[in-house]
Amino acid sequence: MDVISRPELFDFHGVCMTHFFTDNWEKIQNFQARPDDILIDSYPKAGCTWLSYILDLLCHEQTSIPLFQRVPNLEIAVPSLQKGVELSQVMVKGTEVADNLQTFPRIIRTHLPVQFLPKSFWEQNCKIIYVARNAKDSVVSYFHYDHMSKIQPEPGDWSTYLQRFMEGKVAFGSWYKHVNGWWEKKQNYPNLHFMFYEGLIEDTGREIDKLCCFLGLSPSAEEKERITGSVQFDVMKKNNTVNLSTVSLMYFKRTSFMRKGKVGDWRNHFTVAQDETFDANYKQKMKNPTLQFRPGV
Ligand code: A3P
Repeated sequence: MDVISRPELFDFHGVCMTHFFTDNWEKIQNFQARPDDILIDSYPKAGCTWLSYILDLLCHEQTSIPLFQRVPNLEIAVPSLQKGVELSQVMVKGTEVADNLQTFPRIIRTHLPVQFLPKSFWEQNCKIIYVARNAKDSVVSYFHYDHMSKIQPEPGDWSTYLQRFMEGKVAFGSWYKHVNGWWEKKQNYPNLHFMFYEGLIEDTGREIDKLCCFLGLSPSAEEKERITGSVQFDVMKKNNTVNLSTVSLMYFKRTSFMRKGKVGDWRNHFTVAQDETFDANYKQKMKNPTLQFRPGV
């Protein structure tokens, strides 16, 4: 029986959130990071799962354990993640999954805006990787995802959704504030590696090299080639340990988590008028000239 109800959005310290990401707030804020932890952060739908898998392959032995257990989402608190396991009163909490990880180093993922990150990550000077994706493809991907995810509010129709996104009225709040906030943090936190989804698409091998450089890893050429092959969209889409097909919280009939994996899919969704309004709004909010996405997206 489906006992999960779609959550409401509410204002949480100035950011739109749902209770699935705030129920465990005290434990999240008091989470004890370790100096060798690697944290992946992104606004939703920027390629966080892609990056999680890349890092997992770079740092750990390959296993059949689902990626969401190997690289836990810090803020999630839900009744069971695994298909076939009864939804229970015992919540699955990202902080506990992270605390119980046996792998080294621990890789943890999150969508928290910079001001919400538990302070121990800063105190321990952890390596943090932030991945950003252009706003238009992000909103399209988020819209489709919200159709399928039982722990997101119903998205409604496309034009209303687009408006809500521009106003930051989606889970994890404003894309603009999230991306700007982390970009600014990069200026005074050297252990932050800022990446772009579009860069990963353009040349996955080059971006893996940069990641290895940042993390001090030196995989062999064969290993790198194997990893680059394993993380291609079509390969990941078929891999049940990473494509979330074993997660209970999705309506897979609506769309798939590994949906398109393309740059520029927004062109199939935005009308000319929506594009113009979006661009005008974007210019108001993205004033930092040093933060540039690939031209034309
Ligand atoms: P689309 O919905 O545009 O296809 P996240 O993991 O942050 O939720 O991001 C999900 C988005 O990343 C989805 O975008 C998904 O298809 C895309 N993605 C995941 N793995 C990918 C890969 N190997 N190559 C390209 N895109 C990938």
